[in-house]
Amino acid sequence: MTGLKPAYYREHLNQIANVYDRAVGFITFFIGGERRFRKQVIGELGVKAGHRFLEICCGTGTLSLIAAENGAEVTGIDLAENMLRVAAEKAEKKGLKAVFEQHNAEDIKLADGSFDRILISFGLHELPLEAQKNTLREIKRLLKPGGQAMIVDYGPSYGLPGVVYRLLLRFTEEPTVRQFIKEDLIKMLHEAGFSSTSLTYRYFDTMRYLKFSP
Ligand SMILES: C[S@@+](CC[C@H](N)C(=O)[O-])C[C@H]1O[C@@H](n2cnc3c(N)ncnc32)[C@H](O)[C@@H]1O
Repeated sequence: MTGLKPAYYREHLNQIANVYDRAVGFITFFIGGERRFRKQVIGELGVKAGHRFLEICCGTGTLSLIAAENGAEVTGIDLAENMLRVAAEKAEKKGLKAVFEQHNAEDIKLADGSFDRILISFGLHELPLEAQKNTLREIKRLLKPGGQAMIVDYGPSYGLPGVVYRLLLRFTEEPTVRQFIKEDLIKMLHEAGFSSTSLTYRYFDTMRYLKFSP
């Protein structure tokens, strides 16, 4: 199942699948805990019972499973087979229904206009610029009329918190992330065909939340 992976894909993401949740649990401890953080995201996207929900770059599926708890019909896609396996195991353990499949975010083999809500959380920064643009075009194609989408990802952060944050990113992320945090995502969303966009900054501007629709 590795033939879909483009050259830029960081294979170590696939290899850390078994410890990913523990690492996220540690990091989010400082902002009130992972469960609270993740539930807030799903709440802000307004995921409700009966919605068809797609999570792109779903990793171990934590957000997808909260959407499933809300009664949504859930599909999570990612390139990492190990992440997808962990996600499916978590769903089974919790007795939740969700489909986890391997797709490239740039070329998702699912039907046009089939989702009410689409989320990409800490996935966009993993992609080179052209791939980010392709992914946004895929979100546009996959949303139903009246659907809503959301990006949660790194922000620019300034001042003293920004210095600490950039130092942490230097050790944990690729140099391309330094470019990503400066990107004008609103401009990119408009170029991808989204006209309604809103952006908020959280946690000392280390995170950006973008909600958008065509
Ligand atoms: C940092 S993790 C984020 C996981 C999860 N969304 C979260 O919020 O914790 C990034 C994920 O993006 C996936 N990914 C990277 N490039 C991808 C691509 N082109 N298509 C699909 N998934 C990709 C990786 O395999 C990884 O699981």
